[in-house]
Amino acid sequence: MAESTQPSVVQQAQDAASKLAATVADTLNFSDSKPADADKSGLPLLYIDEKAGSDSTGTGAELVPFATPLAAYQSLKPSPESDANPSALATFMVRKQDSVERNEWVELSASAKKKLVKTIGGWRKQEAKQAAEGERLAKEKAAQEEKERKRREEAQSIVLVDDPTKEAKRTKIFAVPELVGSRVRVQGWVHRFRPQKTNYFLIVRDGTAMLQCILTGDCIKTLDALDLVTESTVEVVGTIEKVKEGQTAPGGVELIVDYWKIIGRAPGGADAFDGRLQPDTDASIRADLRHLELRGEIATSVMRVRALLLRAFRERFHARRVTEVTPPCMVQTSVEGGSTLFEFDYYGAKAYLTQSSQLYLETALPSLGDVYCIQESFRAEKSLTRRHLSEYTHLEAELVFIEFKDLLDHIEGMICEVVDILLADPVSAEIIKTLNPDFVPPQRPFMRLDYRDAIKYLNEHGILKEDGSDHVIGDDIAEAAERKMTDQIGRPIMLIHFPKALKSFYMKALESAPDFTESVDVLVPGVGEVVGGSMRIADLEELMAGYRREGIPHEPYYWFTDQRKYGTTEHGGYGLGVERFLAWMLKRYTVRECSLYPRWMGRATP
Ligand code: 4AD
Repeated sequence: MAESTQPSVVQQAQDAASKLAATVADTLNFSDSKPADADKSGLPLLYIDEKAGSDSTGTGAELVPFATPLAAYQSLKPSPESDANPSALATFMVRKQDSVERNEWVELSASAKKKLVKTIGGWRKQEAKQAAEGERLAKEKAAQEEKERKRREEAQSIVLVDDPTKEAKRTKIFAVPELVGSRVRVQGWVHRFRPQKTNYFLIVRDGTAMLQCILTGDCIKTLDALDLVTESTVEVVGTIEKVKEGQTAPGGVELIVDYWKIIGRAPGGADAFDGRLQPDTDASIRADLRHLELRGEIATSVMRVRALLLRAFRERFHARRVTEVTPPCMVQTSVEGGSTLFEFDYYGAKAYLTQSSQLYLETALPSLGDVYCIQESFRAEKSLTRRHLSEYTHLEAELVFIEFKDLLDHIEGMICEVVDILLADPVSAEIIKTLNPDFVPPQRPFMRLDYRDAIKYLNEHGILKEDGSDHVIGDDIAEAAERKMTDQIGRPIMLIHFPKALKSFYMKALESAPDFTESVDVLVPGVGEVVGGSMRIADLEELMAGYRREGIPHEPYYWFTDQRKYGTTEHGGYGLGVERFLAWMLKRYTVRECSLYPRWMGRATP
């Protein structure tokens, strides 16, 4: 919670008291430090009232008394010579405890004067102690600064030489394990840094891998060595050696550095990188610092698997002769209903950010055959769940001359093959093992569960609706119930044949039960739905009825409808949420961790 800038009640009361005191003093023509009264011998009279006075706002005047004799004495700014006999400087008047009403002031008693002298002694001691401590600290600081100055002066005189006659192969870190015995030149960020008396251990990261670097001798005496902090960029030059028996380092090698320099400095102190992102850093600060978080090991690992995953999908599509296309993101039609459309002004006309590229993929079938795209989709989701983004990477495919069973087999095949590729790749396999050690590749065939059987399952297993009642045919199964069922079953499920009323205008009806559709959601444990797909209506009249049923004007869809007019075909397709798929494989709590710069309700920065 932000600290209140409002003064406390006590503070307000004190302020009011000092204002009143000042007003009274002004009115009676008192100055702050000089009470007007003096006794017969001309000594100033200082008034002290233990109860009603104040040491911070009192002036010693009768109407504005101090609370203690010590404060009254201190107000005289006395030299230590007077400490033994304060009465030589002023006459101290105290109000008798029981005489407030009568306003009776008496001179400080002899015993109280003795006590005052003692208190003054204590005050002087305290002052002396504080002064000595201040002096000690100042000396210590000066010594430290001098030491630092000397260190820097000495460091400045140590200049490492980048000997141009000694060849060093410029390389990326991933290649260094092959270069044992060679002299190499590497540039990267200081990922970790452990300075010791006689050597520095650096872990340098260049985006391809990590490299342990050992700095000794003059290498740790330069100005750069004094200034080094994590996340600085450095150039390191030296010989690659295998790590000694029993020791470990990334790639099993280390760089024995003979020349190095800082390329770009990073701040230390309060602004140091390591201090800005701690495990307990607030989620919204973490989101603001996503650009820095991306440098961390977990985020880097997730992004690396993400890249390999997209490559694996492309590879499997290529192997199946499915062609990649790039449909537009700015569109004037909806695919999945109007409630999650982001609308914008397009040269004076209404346009939207695409919810799905499906309709455009369908139109490409007659020219390219099976097609796919990996494109951003946008959903104006009003919910802040851990599996919803406002912008996500949508992997969609459309397959022609197929039946529903072919679609299911294709989806299942793609998922299993991509998982196999990622488990066979040493980089992604290692990351999956680290982030999700219990991951088991899904077994084929996936369980195929009819929607109507799923409703039965939910009721038989006591998984109720949000309002506490049993599910009935026709219900949209809520996210929580769907996840509960999937987690109980514990393996991917193909949930098929959703009611027509729950699905979009383009879905093909089941021949045996026309109120249901040839549709599929793939559900996986921990996440829920990762894929949504269906067979599409091939018949022109049926499609027109679909528009009518959903209350959608058919005119803006003329280009989509034409697909049925000019040589229609049976076809179907699906969309896979890349972030959800990653969250499943890498056991991430939220899809937000699986996007480079995630967008969700209220968040479009950085
Ligand atoms: O089920 P959806 O809405 O289906 C479609 O958009 C179809 N037109 C796709 C097609 O057949 N070509 O979305 C498909 C998948 C979901 O299964 C889910 O994985 C993902 O897209 N998805 C989201 N991912 C993150 N955040 C959101 N807000 C998402 N909405 C859908």
